[in-house]
Amino acid sequence: MLGVCYYPEHWPESMWQQDAQEMKALGLTYVRLAEFAWSKIEPQPLQYNFTWLDKAIDTLAQEGLKIVLCTPTATPPKWLIDKFPDILPVDIHTGQVRGFGSRRHYDFSSENYHRESMRISEVMAKRYAKHPAVVGWQTDNEIACHDTAHSGSENAKKAFQTWLKNKYANIDALNSAWGTIFWSMEYQSFEQIELPILAVTETHPSHQLAYRRFSSDQVLKYHDDMVAVLRKFCPNHFVTHNFIPMVDTQTDNFALANKLDFACYDNYPLGRTDLFFANTDTENFSRYMRTGHPDFSSCSFDHIRGISKGDFWIMEQQPGPVNWGHHNPRPLPGMVRFWSWEAVAHGAATICYFRWRQAAFAQEQMHAGIKRVDNSKSIAWYEAEQFRDELAKTGFDLSAKVKSQVAIIMSTENQWVTEVERQGDSFNQQRVEFEYYSALRQLGIDVDFISSSNDFSKYKLVVAPCLPIVDEDFVTRCKASNAHFIFGPRSGSKTHELTLVPNLAPGLLQALIKVKVSSVETLREDCSEALMFNSQTYVSNRWREELIECEGVDIVARYHDEQAAVVANKQATYIASLTDIAFLKALFVQYAEQLAINTYELPADLRVSIRGNFGVIFNYADKAQVFSSTNHIEFVLGDGNVPAYGVSVFKLV
Ligand code: GAL
Repeated sequence: MLGVCYYPEHWPESMWQQDAQEMKALGLTYVRLAEFAWSKIEPQPLQYNFTWLDKAIDTLAQEGLKIVLCTPTATPPKWLIDKFPDILPVDIHTGQVRGFGSRRHYDFSSENYHRESMRISEVMAKRYAKHPAVVGWQTDNEIACHDTAHSGSENAKKAFQTWLKNKYANIDALNSAWGTIFWSMEYQSFEQIELPILAVTETHPSHQLAYRRFSSDQVLKYHDDMVAVLRKFCPNHFVTHNFIPMVDTQTDNFALANKLDFACYDNYPLGRTDLFFANTDTENFSRYMRTGHPDFSSCSFDHIRGISKGDFWIMEQQPGPVNWGHHNPRPLPGMVRFWSWEAVAHGAATICYFRWRQAAFAQEQMHAGIKRVDNSKSIAWYEAEQFRDELAKTGFDLSAKVKSQVAIIMSTENQWVTEVERQGDSFNQQRVEFEYYSALRQLGIDVDFISSSNDFSKYKLVVAPCLPIVDEDFVTRCKASNAHFIFGPRSGSKTHELTLVPNLAPGLLQALIKVKVSSVETLREDCSEALMFNSQTYVSNRWREELIECEGVDIVARYHDEQAAVVANKQATYIASLTDIAFLKALFVQYAEQLAINTYELPADLRVSIRGNFGVIFNYADKAQVFSSTNHIEFVLGDGNVPAYGVSVFKLV
């Protein structure tokens, strides 16, 4: 099932029909429209112009295409900003108003914007509720992207004070929960509490965490209200949203997806590889600059599958160079087809390419499309065609589920803790989680991302790379489960209020594994030390904890000075250091054997993913590589000698 993001408002009406015919010829099913079209839909207050959108929808519908409409709220028009200037958010680093002239220039705490957003959503929902070609809605666009969850406005401050009042009820409770006696920060009333921004030096961590929780709640409230409007007037349409990773939105994506039918992901492998690696890991970056990192997109697909109630979609798929990385390489020939296979192998139901035709003007004129500005077909067109045909030829089952025996626990709240209290520059929570994920994927293990409140019964192994805040309920559910749990450093070390746990880390997790962290040190990444495991030497670096009072555990790995670095009992393992991927792989091989989890011996840069009865092999290397499996398999596309940057598909028989 394929689709495309289309902007009829950017092109003369005379082109629309041919566009629709070509979309049909390409085998597309869905067309997403209107997420940035507010100024065209409502050029003046309450004067609506739907003629163009009606016509565009009808033109597409005549070719049998189905429409996903968007609420256009990511781009409030100029007249609306002039009418209600408090829509504009305030930059938390400078205290300056963030101006009009790009997108996402709105403050989630502006009541004026909330009301206006619900109004335009209602007007659109009512208008298209009965249109037979309109099948679903996308809310807004990449909500909270461009650092917009946080605003330093007066509206945000007042809303924050109300949020705190609702949470703590009286000011003494807040003073005591946070520990405001430190540095004379005690408050006499909620009205005295400012946002934790623009202070002389670091602000109170509990205050910062509360502000992040509040800001995420503001996004949720706005979004949930919009979903409710769409559901009220369009009860038969699906409602979805195009997500980007939580690390970029500072919002609880699990909660955000909760009210939706399914979640979508916007997949830009090269842009994201560039942002992630550019300044840190030059060697890996240049290797993958035209393919994306072998685990990077799949990690996001597995995230999105974890938050999505139904099968997820790719709402935007990179078709060529983008315009927003530090640098914007051209994907190698074949990558658009390759990434499309990767998405379906990880559970995608539908892939929409971004965008139909490259824009000739404005901010994204250097961003590729399926078609070029002169209306010729770009390479992405042919690769989408190839993917479409291969999908049909292989009979790949898009209704099948990915079934993982291993899960990684992810949580926005814990990400916030590590951002608020970094302790060492080289600690990067996103990277830590990614290293665990990549180690598992290099062994061909399929991985689910789950929240700490998930059911663990499906899993043999549950990994929490970094989980500072845990509660009693979590520990009880771990104890009741048959899974083995692996906890990385920092786990269980903090209370809900971001204070130290009273009984030393890993706090409540001591009920699962009896061990205490007596002290923590963080180190420069280039000051690695040895980590000894099974007579082999690996690396300990960045974050290192000293363990004491280890009872009833085996010492699995030791630091260079012989002290315990990794300890385990039957139910849980505690890893007290950050390490290298080689160590994590070696550890996972051992655990997979013990827990009877299937692994593959994969050469570097080869990956395999299983969905239902189909397996897909991805070769990220510049030479052909051989895939071998002890399972009975039958190739339906390519074979076990996977070409450079190639894909092979097999069936389990
Ligand atoms: C996405 C965004 C699109 C477009 C695209 C360019 O993040 O949703 O509107 O800007 O990036 O790559």
